[in-house]
Amino acid sequence: MSRLRLLVLGSAAGGGSPQWNCRCDVCALAWASDPRISPRTQSSIALTADGESFALINAAPEILAQIRANPPLHPQGGKRTSPIRAVLLTNGDVDHVAGLLSLREGQPFVLHATPQIHDVLGANGIFGVLNPEVVERRTLGFDVPVDLVPGLETTIFPVPGKPALYLESADMVIGGEGESTIGVEFRANGRRIVHVPGAARVSDGLRDRLDGADVILFDGTLWRDDEMIRAGVGQKTGRRMGHMPISGEDGSISALAGLRIGRRVFIHINNTNPVLVDGSPERREAEDAGWEIAHDGMEILV
Ligand code: MLT
Ligand code: MN
Ligand code: ZN
Repeated sequence: MSRLRLLVLGSAAGGGSPQWNCRCDVCALAWASDPRISPRTQSSIALTADGESFALINAAPEILAQIRANPPLHPQGGKRTSPIRAVLLTNGDVDHVAGLLSLREGQPFVLHATPQIHDVLGANGIFGVLNPEVVERRTLGFDVPVDLVPGLETTIFPVPGKPALYLESADMVIGGEGESTIGVEFRANGRRIVHVPGAARVSDGLRDRLDGADVILFDGTLWRDDEMIRAGVGQKTGRRMGHMPISGEDGSISALAGLRIGRRVFIHINNTNPVLVDGSPERREAEDAGWEIAHDGMEILV
């Protein structure tokens, strides 16, 4: 029986690392090609349960480079073909949807999302390049398992979050649970992986969902809530962006301590986050707490 295989295509948050216009301390190391930090593209993973058909979770702006860098995703066995048979979106953020525009060219796959995220795409004519006669748009319901690709049982669930930056409104709720931000649970061969690339907080329901997983991939956007302000690159806190910090009493390391989880991996990591730097005090603190830091090209087999 083949194993559940997960490829990290992109491990950075919106902007990637280094970000095109940033010279924060962490980006400056990356621009200098310092060996302590490797460049990262924006958040996306691929999974297969049969070794042949892959589902992408999110479509990052760098999707073409990500496919080229991952031979299992190359077309094989025909003139117009792809092992990518499904794409699922966890929110409507640019880092998660812009890559859809590069998946045109008449290749059939199924695009899965909540009704709200399908509406966001539907309201934006440019996504019409994915001809609905070729790319089927399928609506997912919470807690209704579907096989995204053969053998990959997939269940979505709401996660505390917020609408995408370009859809923010004066009356939006940050940290609400709805269709705008979701997590994804994968089951195959008796194993379970839970993927939550964005979370504003850990609700009781989310804790229960993560407990007992073989692997979790979790929102690693910021080390501390005021990181972007302290780095001198912005005015927003992490919480305002819908991302809880990793560190501190109200951070994710603390919120998920004590759960029975096989491997804990931070993903969707912002370019300002010092955890990106090998050997930094923050990296050591995360590792000492049992966490791994995702990098592009990371492969997880369970
Ligand atoms: C986020 O995760 O907060 C967004 O990707 C921000 C953005 O759109 O750059
Ligand atoms: Mn994002
Ligand atoms: Zn930066």
